[in-house]
Parts: sequence; C-alpha cells; structure tokens
Amino acid sequence: MTGSPTPRRSTLLAPVPVGILISGRGSNMEALVRAAQAPNASYKVVCVIANRADAKGLQFAAAHDIPAVVVNHKAFDSREHFEAELSQTLMAHGVRVVALAGFMRVLTAGFVRQWQGRLVNIHPSLLPKFKGLHTHERALEAGEPEHGCTVHWVSEGVDEGEIIGQARVPIKAGDTPETLAARVLAEEHTLYPACLDKICTALRSPQTQST
Ligand code: GAR
Repeated sequence: MTGSPTPRRSTLLAPVPVGILISGRGSNMEALVRAAQAPNASYKVVCVIANRADAKGLQFAAAHDIPAVVVNHKAFDSREHFEAELSQTLMAHGVRVVALAGFMRVLTAGFVRQWQGRLVNIHPSLLPKFKGLHTHERALEAGEPEHGCTVHWVSEGVDEGEIIGQARVPIKAGDTPETLAARVLAEEHTLYPACLDKICTALRSPQTQST
C-alpha cells in the first residue's frame, strides 16, 4: 500500500497546546491548569502571559513549571505592536488555542481575526446581559433574580462572540457585589475547564487532525 503512514494513536491524541492570557489574580487560570493535570487531559497549558509584571497568577504558573511571560502593554507604542508581541509569544510556545482568563485589555480586530476560532474568553455575567465591566454591581442594581458567567468565542465585538457555555447562580437577599462575585467565581472555576475540555476534545479527535 502506498501513501503516508497512519499516525500513531498516541500522536493523534496529544493534548492541545493552550496559552492563557491574564492580567491579575489568575484564579481561572489556576482552575484551567489544575484540570489539565488530569490523566489524558484534552489540553496542556504551555504558557501563561500577563500584560502586567505584578499579575499574581504568574507565580502560580512558574511554580507549576509553566512558562510565565510578561508582555507589558505599556512598553509598546500601539495596541498593534503589543498584540504582535503577544502573538509571537503564543506562536513561539506552539499555542493552538488561546484562553483569556481575566485578561483586561480589549483586543483589536486584527488580533481577533488572527486567532479566530481559537480564542475563548470567560465573562462574569449571563451574556448578552451585562457586557463590559462591573457586572455584579449592575446585576444587583437591575434587580435580577439570577446572575452567572459565560464562556464564549471571542469575536470583534466586545463580549459578543458565540456562547459556548453558561453557569447560573441565584441572587440572594442581602447580596453585595462581593458575595455575588464569589458565588459566580466558584462557578467560573468549573465552567471554564469544562468548556475548554469540550473544545480541545473536538480539536484533537482524529477527524479534526489536519495532518
Ligand atoms: C473573573 O471573574 C473573570 O470572569 C473576569 O475577571 C475575573 C478574573 O479573575 N473577566 C472579565 O471581567 C473579562 N471582561 P481571575 O484573575 O481570578 O481569573
């Protein structure tokens, strides 16, 4: 028989290399890293990039032998140059899927197009409600009965991409933005790994392997 040899199964099922972008605490990044430590996980976190040197999450990444890189947006004269460095760093680590995890910079259309279909975000509201900042305060002010979080594909409009998954929590009498944020965050830590696993399981299935 001629043609290229059938790839070995272990090659086909290699975990998908994921890069995570953070700006601060990094608790969602931690949840993603911990989930990736499971045997035969569908993805592997190959780098964590922060746009601030004081992002706390960098310490966790480094302590788990994950390359922890600072790309300080203030060191660049334009968003495009900052993002070019981000992309270069991601590509240098062989990243296939980028997970935004509390990354607080708006990305330009150019960057989004470059990573289209491979760029996901977690947002602390039940999108399409409460795009943008201060979502917990706004949900309380609006008198919502429930709140939650959303994992979505990143598109050119901020917090507008197709929804991958959502988790809901009740809003309780006496809630403050802080108590509500804590209830939502606990759900984020389950939702994000589950959604990323779904994406990466599909990506590494033999049918979707490019070569
Ligand atoms: C999370 O609640 C995340 O959903 C939110 O920032 C927090 C980061 O926490 N993201 C956004 O608001 C994006 N617009 P973490 O650093 O502990 O993961």
